[in-house]
Amino acid sequence: MANDLAVPGGDKPSFFLRLFKKKEKPFTGEKMKVGIIGCGWIAGDHVRNYKKMNDVEIVAIADLIEGKAEAFARRHGLKCRIYRSHKELIDNEKLDIVSVCTYNKTHAECSIYALDAGVNVMCEKPMCVTIEEAIEMTKAAKRSGKKLSIGFQPRMDPNFQELKKVVQSGELGQVYYVQTGGGRTNGIPTPFGTSFIESSTAGIGAVGDIGCYSLDLVMNALGYPKPLTVSGYLNNSFGKDPKTFLGHPEYAEKFSVDDFAAGFVRLEGGICLDFRIAWAMNLETPGDTLFFGTKKALRVPSTGCWNGSIPKPMELSHVNQTTGIITKKKIKKFKSPNVFYMKLRGFIDAVRNDTEVSAPPEQILYNQAIIDGIVRSAKEGKEVEIILPDFDEKPKKK
Ligand SMILES: NC(=O)c1ccc[n+]([C@@H]2O[C@H](COP(=O)([O-])OP(=O)(O)OC[C@H]3O[C@@H](n4cnc5c(N)ncnc54)[C@H](O)[C@@H]3O)[C@@H](O)[C@H]2O)c1
Repeated sequence: MANDLAVPGGDKPSFFLRLFKKKEKPFTGEKMKVGIIGCGWIAGDHVRNYKKMNDVEIVAIADLIEGKAEAFARRHGLKCRIYRSHKELIDNEKLDIVSVCTYNKTHAECSIYALDAGVNVMCEKPMCVTIEEAIEMTKAAKRSGKKLSIGFQPRMDPNFQELKKVVQSGELGQVYYVQTGGGRTNGIPTPFGTSFIESSTAGIGAVGDIGCYSLDLVMNALGYPKPLTVSGYLNNSFGKDPKTFLGHPEYAEKFSVDDFAAGFVRLEGGICLDFRIAWAMNLETPGDTLFFGTKKALRVPSTGCWNGSIPKPMELSHVNQTTGIITKKKIKKFKSPNVFYMKLRGFIDAVRNDTEVSAPPEQILYNQAIIDGIVRSAKEGKEVEIILPDFDEKPKKK
C-alpha cells in the first residue's frame, strides 16, 4: 500500500458521527488559496481534507504526466486550473499554500521553488532524499520567511505527544539507548506503479518512506538531539526477486532502492539509537520500540509504531537492582483522531495565525541526516560522520 497509516477512504465517519458532527462555522474572511503539486494517492487525501475546511479553496493542481491532473480533478470534483509542472503552477497563480505531493525525488525542487516565490509549503514525507536537499529546503524556508512543514501526521496523535511528555519529564532518568523501527512483513508499495521503487523517482526505499516515521517517533520524544555518526546497512533481496511482485515480475528489474535498512546512530548527549526498517521481511516484527533510561525503561508496543502510531498502551518498567523486583506501569492509551485532517488543519492555522508548524524543517533535517548517513555509510562500508551547517540566513521582510 502506498498509504502509510490509513486505507484510502478509511477516514470516512460513520452514519451516526456524520449525523451529530458539528459543522464548521461559516467563514466570512478571505479563503486560503491552495495549490497541489503531484496528483497521486496522497494528493487525494489532501483534497478530501481541504474540502472539509470552509476557509480553504483549492485553486490549481499540477502533474507532470499528461492527463493525470485532469482525471484527478474529475475524480475529486475539482473545478480548478490545471498545470503540467510545479513551475507553471507557481508562476501563474497567487497562492497562499502549496501541498507538495510529488514523489520523494522532487520534494526539494518543488518546495524550494514555492518558498522562493513566497508560498507557504506543506511538503509530504520524507522531507526529501539527500541531506544537501534538506539543508537547501531549510535555508529556503529561512530566507523566504514562509512556513515549511513536513507531512508527519502522527505528530498530531495524542499518544505520540504523550510519549514525548513521558520522555521529557525525566521519569526515565538519563536515556542512553533507544531501539526503534520495524516495518511491514509484505508491503513493498507498488499499488499505483513503480514510483516508490525506482531510484529516479523515489531516490530511497523503506529507509526514507517508512523509516522516517520511526525516526521521528523517537527523535521527537528525545527533543531532536543532533546526530553525530552513523553506521548503516541496506538490503534489497525482496525487491530484486521477481516472485515478490504478483503479475509484475518486471518490477524486480526496475527495483533500484532498499527494502530493508539498519543504522546504529550516535546522538548528542551520549545516546545511541539502534534502528531498522523493512518493507518486507520473514518476521512479523523485529521488536518493540524501547527507551533505556537510568531510572526507568519505556516500551512502545511494536505493531504500527514504525509508522508513528502507538496501537497499545506504552509501559514503564523499573528493576530494583538490590532486590531484582520489577515494577511495571501502563500508560493510558488515548483514542486517535483523524491525524491526516489535523496535519493540514494545523498547517492552515499556523499560516493564518503566524504560529509554529507541527513538523519544522530544523527538526526534520536531523531525521534526514540519519537517513542520508545510513545510505552513505552503506555505500562506503564504514561509519560516517554527520556534519551540519549553522543556519544564519535571516528571513526577508514579509
Ligand atoms: N503522509 C502519508 O501518510 C503519505 C502517504 C502516502 C504517500 N506519502 C508521500 O507522498 C508522496 C507522493 O506519494 P504518492 O503515493 O501520491 O505518489 P505518486 O507517485 O503516486 O504521485 C506523485 C505524482 O507527482 C507527480 N510529480 C512529480 N514531480 C512533479 C513536478 N515537479 N510537478 C508536478 N507533478 C510532479 C508525478 O507525476 C506523480 O503523478 C511520496 O513522497 C510519499 O512518501 C505520504
